[in-house]
Order: sequence, then C-alpha cells, then structure tokens
Amino acid sequence: MENVYIDSSAITQDALSRIRDKTTPTPVFRQYADRIATQLFSFALSSLQGDSKDIETPITKTTGQFLSHNMVFVTILRAGLSLLPQALAVLPGIQVGFVGLKRDEKTAVAKEYYANLPAITPDTTVIVGDPMLATGGSMHHTLGKIAAYSPKEIRIVTVICAPEGIAKIQETFPHIAIFTAGVDSNLNDKQYIVPGLGDFGDRYFGTE
Ligand code: PRP
Ligand code: URA
Repeated sequence: MENVYIDSSAITQDALSRIRDKTTPTPVFRQYADRIATQLFSFALSSLQGDSKDIETPITKTTGQFLSHNMVFVTILRAGLSLLPQALAVLPGIQVGFVGLKRDEKTAVAKEYYANLPAITPDTTVIVGDPMLATGGSMHHTLGKIAAYSPKEIRIVTVICAPEGIAKIQETFPHIAIFTAGVDSNLNDKQYIVPGLGDFGDRYFGTE
C-alpha cells in the first residue's frame, strides 16, 4: 500500500500481539500500548529532514541536524490521549492540539465535542495520533481541520488500521503518510477492526 508504513520490528509486533489478547488486563495493556507508541513516534519521525545548525562540542565546532521547532502533535480524544506522554517524551518542545470526537455506537459516525489547535502555518509539520483507524471518519474529520491551514506536512501515527479507513483517508489525502503497527483485515458490522483489539479507549483507560 502506497504511503502506509508498517513498523514490523520484533519489539512493536510483540507489544501489538500482547494488547490484541483479550485476557491482557489494563495495567499490562497500558504498558505495551505505551511501548508501541514510543516505537511508532521514532518510526514516523525517522525520515523527517533535520535542519542543519552549527554547534560546538567540548572538542570542536561541527554541524548538527535538528528536528524543526515548528512541529505540532494533534491527538484525537479520548483514546489518542494515550499517545501523548510518548509524543512529549520524544519531542519535549512540541505544541499540542486536541480534537474531541466520539463515534455514535449505532452509526459509528464520529461527532466533534471539543477542538483546540495551536497555530499551524505553512511551515508546520503536524503529527496526528489516534490508536485506531477504523472507518477513518474520526481521522478524516481531524485532517480536514488541519489541512485548512495548509501545513508543510501531515503524518499519521496509529496503532492499527483497517483497509476501509486507509481508503477513506487516501481518497481525500493521498499524500499523507500513515505510520502504523498493523493493517488488519476488515471491519465487522459494528465497524470494529478485525482481528483488532476491541475498544482501545476502554481497554487503555479501564472503562470496559
Ligand atoms: C475510537 C478511536 C478512534 C475512532 C476510530 O474512538 O479512538 O478515535 O474510534 O474509529 P473511526 O475510524 O471509525 O472513526 P471512540 O469514538 O470509540 O472514542 P474514545 O476515543 O472516546 O474511546
Ligand atoms: N475504535 C476502537 O477502539 N476499536 C475499533 O476496533 C474501532 C474503533
């Protein structure tokens, strides 16, 4: 699949398999979901072009490569909150935006209940994080809000994707790269990802 990058490293796949298991209790689910998030941020950022800047080591002058200061992390509430500590650990200076969306349990259509985005300019690189890309409705809505500011680049970080969600995003935003731990088989009649891991938010926050 074009523009979809799967982190097939053993560490990520081990953690993914553990959180898929329905017997995994919340404390263990959190531990391995956090590990995946750390892995995925490194994976998603590894191909970003750094800015060159002169620095001085204790020994001599040299040129370093720095990630741009103009980066924004947008997370989709509620499940996306789980990704925030890892995003801040990898990029301590990043500005953070929130979009609150909840899927209607019957229609699976996501409704916005909150939005707060930092300034996004044509120089900004935006990373959008949500652990589940199912129908793609939540991500599509969020990308539309961000794309209105014409940022330099948008990248998606998501734990599991369904092909249906990827297709929905790529129909409108073919240039946006998706970094994920897995592309699953399909959606079921309740629009849950198969095989998936169930309801990520409930399992991470212990609200099952
Ligand atoms: C889940 C998940 C995504 C969304 C994905 O959130 O965290 O945001 O579903 O589904 P979609 O691709 O079909 O839009 P949910 O609406 O269950 O809310 P929550 O994060 O509060 O648990
Ligand atoms: N949201 C989830 O948490 N899980 C799914 O499988 C689909 C949407």
